Amino acid sequence: MVEVPEHLLKRAAEARARLSGVAAPGDGGEQAAPAAPAGWPAAGAVRPPAGRSGVAAPGAGGERAAPAAPAASPAVVPAPAPAAAVPAQPPVKVEAPVAPYVTAALQRKTIPYWVIPVLLFLPIWAIYYVGYLERPPADPEGLLFEGGEVYAEVCASCHGGTGSGGTGRQLSGGEVLLTFPADAAGYDGLAGHIAWVVNGSEQTELVEGPVYGDPARTGVDSPRTVGSFGAVMGNFTESLTVEELTAVVYYERVAHGELDDETAAFELEVLEEFVHINSEAGVGNLALGVSVAEVSAQLDEARAAVAAAQDEVAAG
Ligand code: HEC
Repeated sequence: MVEVPEHLLKRAAEARARLSGVAAPGDGGEQAAPAAPAGWPAAGAVRPPAGRSGVAAPGAGGERAAPAAPAASPAVVPAPAPAAAVPAQPPVKVEAPVAPYVTAALQRKTIPYWVIPVLLFLPIWAIYYVGYLERPPADPEGLLFEGGEVYAEVCASCHGGTGSGGTGRQLSGGEVLLTFPADAAGYDGLAGHIAWVVNGSEQTELVEGPVYGDPARTGVDSPRTVGSFGAVMGNFTESLTVEELTAVVYYERVAHGELDDETAAFELEVLEEFVHINSEAGVGNLALGVSVAEVSAQLDEARAAVAAAQDEVAAG
């Protein structure tokens, strides 16, 4: 056998590698990328003393012996396997037939992402909706709504936001209706309530005497007398129009007095008519010193009008 010079063997191996696009064939090692051409000193020939750097020297028994020259001996020409010359064709991918139900599932429309927040919001909406049904919302143009606004602006500073009292007396928990009832015998509580807010403590005393409200009132400080709470309330003759004053009185009766629904509905109609009568008469503000009897007479007029309208409806 003729000895082939080493450098020729090396060149031939490089040429083969270039042609095939595959790293020079090693002896079976698939990861022979940095494989040194044949002829390199055999692995381990020049080996740094093991353990010097604390890192195992390549090829010193490590599993990744990649940089080690595959050809163990320069004398043996690594015979390229014929198969290695032709780059192995990547295996043709055979698509497995997709079952129709899988295709259907993939094509089916999924739930749009925005549905999730909508679904989460549904119970909140349901609670809100039920609450909405239970209590008719205050009509933004109605007396109750307007009264709430007036109350918050003008009265809450003394009587508290919820009517629980402060400088002024407590109105909530039905207290205000004990003083100005809807159904007291011989006393028009609605008229008394309106006249009280028009006149305040001082004028009320001048017109009616020291007792205000239902003379048959029960509970603490009954019957009510002007100044008995240790403070007095001013009058609202000029600062509130007939409508504003009527509205805040209605609001107190519903929100703090806890008027029952039926009476509340009736008083609303009466008070609307009361506002209407005054507006027809060109009265913008109720006069300071108006008596409970005078307000009561006007309310009776309004009550009669409401009753007549209801009879008309009933008669068809
Ligand atoms: C400056 C504080 C103050 C303001 C503002 C005020 N009040 Fe009064 N209110 C009082 C005081 C004090 C009394 C008790 C008066 C007395 O004993 O003479 C009172 C009593 C009342 C009463 C009688 C309660 C009862 O059961 O004896 C009603 C009703 C009332 N106020 C309604 C109103 C309304 C409506 C407004 C707003 C338009 C209003 N008040 C604004 C201080 C105030």
